[in-house]
Amino acid sequence: LFPFIEYRGRKLFVEDVDVQAIAKRIGTPVYVYSKAAFSYWFNEFDSAFNDVEHLTAFAVKSCSNIAILRLLAEMGAGADTVSAGEIFRAINAGIAPEKIVFAGVGKRKDEMEYALSHGILMFNVESRQELETLNKVAEKLRKRARIAIRVNPDVDPKTHPYISTGLRTSKFGIDYDEAFDVYMKAKEMEWVEPIGIHFHIGSQILDVSPFEEASAKVADLVKALRDKGLDIEYFDAGGGLGINYHPEENPPSSSSLAERIVPFVKELDCKLILEPGRRISGNSGFLLTEVLYIKRKEGKIFYIVDAAMNDCMRPSLYDAYHHIVPAEKKENIEIVDVVGPVCETGDILAKERELGKCEQGDILAVLSAGAYGFSMSSNYNSRVRPAEILVSGSKFEVIRERETFGSLIEGEKIV
Ligand code: LLP
Repeated sequence: LFPFIEYRGRKLFVEDVDVQAIAKRIGTPVYVYSKAAFSYWFNEFDSAFNDVEHLTAFAVKSCSNIAILRLLAEMGAGADTVSAGEIFRAINAGIAPEKIVFAGVGKRKDEMEYALSHGILMFNVESRQELETLNKVAEKLRKRARIAIRVNPDVDPKTHPYISTGLRTSKFGIDYDEAFDVYMKAKEMEWVEPIGIHFHIGSQILDVSPFEEASAKVADLVKALRDKGLDIEYFDAGGGLGINYHPEENPPSSSSLAERIVPFVKELDCKLILEPGRRISGNSGFLLTEVLYIKRKEGKIFYIVDAAMNDCMRPSLYDAYHHIVPAEKKENIEIVDVVGPVCETGDILAKERELGKCEQGDILAVLSAGAYGFSMSSNYNSRVRPAEILVSGSKFEVIRERETFGSLIEGEKIV
């Protein structure tokens, strides 16, 4: 199906582990990640850029477990973060602060202080007001803030509107035409030091040409800035490379992405930063769930499973496709809706899907859920969030315990 996630005979394996053994020992729902898959996808990405000095800063938001971040740190990854909480996770996992970049349209002062005091590589600044605030915070701490301006290159990444970020109409970054001026302001400020330039055009991008368009525009800006004496050392091209959500689709290779970006970086002689999230984590994990009940009515079959929209939000939120397969192959295909127990009609994991006929108690795998799966989960309906498991070879370990009722009310008070 996907690297390290495949059938052996009739049974679904992740590396050398039968997924039913995980469901049995740990219970369901449960997120399962493969160490070998993480390493495969990290290398597929990172090695594509070997022609230039580069940092692969993993987008923590896609999969934030510190065991996963530690794995990636060991492979040489840095971190792309969007909150002090993510910086905390990255540092906790052993990612060096000099490999951490911090983006986000709404950084609070306390988050800036946190990032500054830990000495992160750079802030990706998204507005004039943020720049001024950062200058003040840095002055207070007597620590210069290294920055890049997040430039909005106004290119269409041709992806889902909710995850397009590089269009003029989006809230992200500073408009291309305005960016030069903002850099000039930054140059005059005592406590910020412009060292880079940043853009991120969107997510789940399957056509790499917009990356070239954006790189070309941003490279022109770098030249103009250098002419004014600004030393732009880092070229941060963001994340966004898409994956296949169906085993039979072929997404672009990371090398084909590199071909669009690397020539500009070479010409500028910059250091390249990349911020892939989904590309590395998406197909390195999946969600296991048990079929609780089956409802067969006229013209409609529902598999009611024990995972729901709170555990895996993408299908409800974006109408996203996640391939679903049984832990043990079935005969007799039927067309079903796979739905969760949450009290919302939108609590759907898959709609009108062809699946082998299941019975109560069967285990299903919701594939490609390594990115924006657990990290977007919530406690809606007071459901405890699933455990997370890391598989390596024939072994697996819990990297996050299933939550308990205690965790549900932690911090709450009856007054
Ligand atoms: N860098 C920045 C500044 C970002 O905002 C993002 C993602 C990334 C990097 C990583 O993008 P990736 O390589 O994973 O595409 N929840 C949505 C995706 C939201 C992406 C937000 N930004 C989903 O489930 O599809």
